[in-house]
Amino acid sequence: MQEIKFYSGENIPLEQHKVRIVQKLNLVPIERRLEALYEGGFNTFRLSTNDVFLDMLTDSGTNAMSDNQLAAMMQADDAYAGSQSFVRLQKAVKDVLGKDYLLPVHQGRAAENIISIAYVKKGSLVPMNYHFTTAMAHITDKGGQIAELLYDEAYVINSDHPFKGNMNIEKLEEVINYHRPKNIPFVRMEASTNLIGGQPFSIQNLRDVRALCDKYNIRLVLDGSLLGENAYLILQREEEFKNSDMKTIIHTMTELADLCYFSARKLSSSRGGGICTNNLEIYRELEAFIPLYEGFLTYGGMSIREVESMAVGLYETLDETMISQSPAFIKYLVDGLDSKGIPVIKPAGVLGAHVDAMQVCEHIPQSQYPAGALAAALFLISGVRGMERGSISNQRDEYGNETYSDMELLRLAVPRRVFTLSQIKYVEDRMHWLYDNRHLIGGLKFVYEPPVLRFFMGGLEPVNDWPLKLIAKFKEDFGDSL
Ligand code: F0G
Repeated sequence: MQEIKFYSGENIPLEQHKVRIVQKLNLVPIERRLEALYEGGFNTFRLSTNDVFLDMLTDSGTNAMSDNQLAAMMQADDAYAGSQSFVRLQKAVKDVLGKDYLLPVHQGRAAENIISIAYVKKGSLVPMNYHFTTAMAHITDKGGQIAELLYDEAYVINSDHPFKGNMNIEKLEEVINYHRPKNIPFVRMEASTNLIGGQPFSIQNLRDVRALCDKYNIRLVLDGSLLGENAYLILQREEEFKNSDMKTIIHTMTELADLCYFSARKLSSSRGGGICTNNLEIYRELEAFIPLYEGFLTYGGMSIREVESMAVGLYETLDETMISQSPAFIKYLVDGLDSKGIPVIKPAGVLGAHVDAMQVCEHIPQSQYPAGALAAALFLISGVRGMERGSISNQRDEYGNETYSDMELLRLAVPRRVFTLSQIKYVEDRMHWLYDNRHLIGGLKFVYEPPVLRFFMGGLEPVNDWPLKLIAKFKEDFGDSL
């Protein structure tokens, strides 16, 4: 654990790494930030990093890479087929994830595409603890549907439940019986359930899911994109594993799944992704799609350098000090926001701090996207780029109606070993100011709405001139300070 007790009595998540390469940041004036919002359709995905101060959009492909990863990239064995770099990656997958067969893909959603092509058809239903945007989009794209089966506790913002990502076992059995096992190609468990605030499931829960999958002869698919963090929280929170180690926990998790896929943009602080299994039949069912959609079976659409950095990054996932860095900073930020009365998902999870926009912007109806509005407002007053994880990130139903999200969250991602503690304190400070002035934030409306994954490139605008009022108050309180 990374927290160090200071003489002052404070516990500080002291950095266990040193900075050797730096990248300059820009904190541009608030007037420029307003222009940037208009240019980017009030959608933080569409901002240019020239205008962003702290990029808390995501941890995807933005975790700091280690010296050993960069060094490994230099020994890449560039070959279309039979690359030794891929052999090293296969070994890492075997050692770290305990799987013999690996199919490389260019990123996590490519794995979702291939698994869905192979197994999902019209009439299929995929039960899962909770959806992730791209997983759901690929399943529905192939004519399937999803069922989200969390316990009620998962939706409670201010909670101390250690495993809010647990699958509701009773509901799972009901759903399997109702829809019949033959229509259920697989059950999907997402490690560190992203969209409900990076909340883990327990190994006991995964064992219970496995038992039902065995009973009804259904495949169990593990989305391991945030596997390391889920394993770390099991080490912290699950009694049976409190004296265990990362490797044992990760192996225990992956052994329970028939196949595990991951976004290496997250799991190994690199790029790319993979699908791995010990089941040769599954491997054969998916194999042919790799050259068709991704690339040859020894690179899967990735540059060979990424293959090398992924192998090293997978081994580093077993390092408790490394893997605890982001959750420790997140906890620091969550505790800070919570102490100011700002509603934030608790317990602190992984990936980022998640502010509850439904409460912060309770005056903004869901039809005007409170989480999107809060993301835009925070960027305006701080240059901090978070991500909307609410109704904008939801897709419309088959009749074109809005489906409002269970939660309206502003996610402030804390990628591994990227930010310093004073930067985290800045986020806390500006979020505090915004919370005290929350009544000045107004809603948003779509002016351009793409039909699929609309949150990525969609364009919005404020429903009135609320950004100007926010700027006026900012100037009043901060004067010329950026
Ligand atoms: N599964 C989970 C749990 C994810 O968090 C992501 C990506 C994916 C699958 C898809 O992987 O991006 O490599 O195609 N999450 C990113 C995020 C985009 O910001 O949370 P990908």
